[in-house]
Amino acid sequence: MITFDMLTIFPEIFTSYFQESIINRAQKKKLIKINTHNLRDYAKPGNRHRQVDDRPYGGGPGMILMVEPIAKALQKIKKAKKQKSRIIMLTPAGKQFDQKMAERLSSYDQIILLCGRYEGFDARVEKLVDEKISIGPYVLSGGELPAMILTEAVARHIPGVVGHPDALVEETFSKGRDYVEYPQYTRPEKFKGQKVPKVLLSGNHAEIGKWRQNKSKKR
Ligand code: ADE
Repeated sequence: MITFDMLTIFPEIFTSYFQESIINRAQKKKLIKINTHNLRDYAKPGNRHRQVDDRPYGGGPGMILMVEPIAKALQKIKKAKKQKSRIIMLTPAGKQFDQKMAERLSSYDQIILLCGRYEGFDARVEKLVDEKISIGPYVLSGGELPAMILTEAVARHIPGVVGHPDALVEETFSKGRDYVEYPQYTRPEKFKGQKVPKVLLSGNHAEIGKWRQNKSKKR
């Protein structure tokens, strides 16, 4: 069982997506657990606005997430030392996420995902995290979507999360960068003049296997 802990100022962003489909089933089967934590709960005590951001020293546009609430939250969220835990900062300046990283991260007991907003984090937050990950070479408004993508990609590597046991190994990128899945068809047999390849209707599984292998390489 992996526990995913989201640290964010917008915890509601996660509710709808994680309540659906594969991720919902994985939680019900106790294969994964997802917690969301509101960073504002760790604002300075007595601060009426539960402020977790401030203006940058030296001037400049926008607001910066403060180091203290994040440090306090991470200390609280991180489980006992014997658990294998990983603190990840989502940032466009991180290492680009891929299927290999997803597989590697699936061996942890706890993954803490630190989601940024505004102009970014106080530079001292970097010392509090184990690694920085970018979901792709573009800039988003926050780390919440990247955290959801990472969670799903990692969860899919846990045995039992993906419905059919063969589904994961058959999948596009697990077999390497150049491998692409064979084309699939369902009803109807004919659509706007395009027919389903005859071999798939033949019932000859050896031939179907050969055809699929051939198409996988070609696409
Ligand atoms: N926050 C903003 N953009 C991001 C990206 N591309 N990856 C991860 N976190 C981000």
